[in-house]
Amino acid sequence: MTLAIIVHGGAGGWNQSTARKQEAIAACAQAAEAGQAILRQGGSAVDAVEAAVNILEDCPVLDAGRGSYPNAEGNVEMDALIMDGRDLNLGAIAAIQRVRHPISLARRVMLESGHSFLVGAGADAFADDIGFERCSVEELLIDDLHIDEMIPTSAIGDTVGAVALDIHGNVAAATSTGGTANKRAGRVGDSPLVGSGAYADNWTAAVSATGYGEALMRIVISKRVCDFVGTGLSARSGFTSVRSNL
Ligand code: GLY
Repeated sequence: MTLAIIVHGGAGGWNQSTARKQEAIAACAQAAEAGQAILRQGGSAVDAVEAAVNILEDCPVLDAGRGSYPNAEGNVEMDALIMDGRDLNLGAIAAIQRVRHPISLARRVMLESGHSFLVGAGADAFADDIGFERCSVEELLIDDLHIDEMIPTSAIGDTVGAVALDIHGNVAAATSTGGTANKRAGRVGDSPLVGSGAYADNWTAAVSATGYGEALMRIVISKRVCDFVGTGLSARSGFTSVRSNL
């Protein structure tokens, strides 16, 4: 029986202080354990990545869900994508406000909306239509992120994500983010874009990306890594090949 889960807490600056680093590492460990417990019980890769990302979205030193960076207007607009490697089904949301767990809303988009990707007001309306739990913007902003203060891009944290392989041989990927600090309202990064923020297919690999969205989306990085793996490279070699081919 082969199963696997890998989680990440982003490429940002969550490790700037020891306390924040410890909190982020603890959240990653907890997320990996939660996903692994699901996989050990025979649960699906999609269930595992959603559960893992939910924990990372609750971690205040990571830039997703609670702890998301505010945008230039002081609002929190979040992006998320989940993909099922069995059938390439996917759900994504962008510029969603007032939800604690954007990845779970993305999954509901995948399963219940009849569409793949909902944004802004339409994503809000869908959340309300299905009775998805809403929260206040204050619940998402952590105390030391002042909304009227310029925040360096790497000030606190970054995008979170997970990939998993279940005992049935299925893979899944999930990515969730508050985006870049002080971004313009309506700015969408790589995270919810299929092939950029994440990709999963059973014939190659599952990938969740982190980094500066404006750069990552240009090269559709997650799909590109999967394509390299499809040629026979390992995931690590595939990623190295993407970098060396830029
Ligand atoms: N990678 C997250 C973003 O740029 O929004």
